[in-house]
Amino acid sequence: MKKNYLLTPGPTPVPAEVLLSMAHPIIHHRTPEYEEIFAQVKKGLISIFQTQQEVLVLSSSGTGAMEAAVINLLSAGDTALVINGGKFGKRWADICQAYQVNTEMITVEWGQAVDPQTVADALKANPHIKAVFTTHSETSTGVLHDIKTIAGIVAAYPQTVLVVDAITALGATAVPMDDWGLDVVVTGSQKALMMPPGLACIALSEKAWKLTETSQLPKYYLNLKKEKKTQAKNQTAYTPAISLVIALRESLAMIEREGLENVHRRHQLLAEATRAAVQALGLELLAPESPSPALTAVKSPAGIEVSALRGILSKKYGVTIAGGQDHLKGKIFRIAHLGYMGTFDTIIAISALEMALKELGHPLELGTGVKAAQEILTDL
Ligand SMILES: Cc1ncc(COP(=O)(O)O)c(C=O)c1O
Repeated sequence: MKKNYLLTPGPTPVPAEVLLSMAHPIIHHRTPEYEEIFAQVKKGLISIFQTQQEVLVLSSSGTGAMEAAVINLLSAGDTALVINGGKFGKRWADICQAYQVNTEMITVEWGQAVDPQTVADALKANPHIKAVFTTHSETSTGVLHDIKTIAGIVAAYPQTVLVVDAITALGATAVPMDDWGLDVVVTGSQKALMMPPGLACIALSEKAWKLTETSQLPKYYLNLKKEKKTQAKNQTAYTPAISLVIALRESLAMIEREGLENVHRRHQLLAEATRAAVQALGLELLAPESPSPALTAVKSPAGIEVSALRGILSKKYGVTIAGGQDHLKGKIFRIAHLGYMGTFDTIIAISALEMALKELGHPLELGTGVKAAQEILTDL
């Protein structure tokens, strides 16, 4: 028998309670029964987005909510500022360019966090920038960007909104939308929400909703004004992913039972333990200075092929971790501590990593990383 362990930064493991909630016979969505479920989902989302605004639920992956942000706020010929420090930062630029939005870019070395001063400088140089597109937790590099400071900078520009991809941040760390003054926050279901892929959520500030009044970019399915009006009545404009909405009610209830602060603390400790473990094994972190609580990106040691390492982990031990993306493919591997993960998911990740590295000839004493992780995880 081989048991499988999914330790990637999305999709993430789905708890049995959430899976079972989807096993009931399907219900119709134009019913009071569904509306009651949707109302509970909205309440749960408002508390993790930490906002008074309506949080809209879309039937799409996270990228659908990213595209919705661009096409509902902007018009062709507008200028956007994109912080590109990884694959997902670059995705903002790709979407903007697909819709003829002029795109200025701050390019950040993969593994580094953006210096907020560069955002201040870019806005000063071009106050016509209508939106700043950022990534809170950049999943391709394991970096957590300083969104709070950037929000303080953008707030001084009444015509400019701050859009945050919080797809692997929300639920792993605090993203207090209203307190920090974030204008748009997006997330996807297959991350800290402990769900299968298929839902995305998006919330807009008053400032962002104002932009939807003037936006001229083409939109039909992802029309947020239409969704806002319909979702205020606990319905969606089109047939929702009913089973996933029911599952989301369950996962939000689990988060509420644990307590949002405890959920964040758990992610923080799992992240600290993972970093301590890989460093105890003599491995180097890609993002030592501003690491994400959702995942840890590790440079592959000299002479170790990432594909061989991941191959042993998955074929022999049933452990799936992520590799690097784009130019980091073959250079790093990424271990997640995101969503439905606890002490022994991290211990499994580290002990399997030790065994696979040893098999590939990397010098280490078995148990070194596990011990470093255990010392931190006794506090969880
Ligand atoms: C930070 C970030 N942004 C965007 C995405 C894209 O989301 P999706 O694959 O759900 O469209 C991901 C998915 O991994 C992500 O981690």
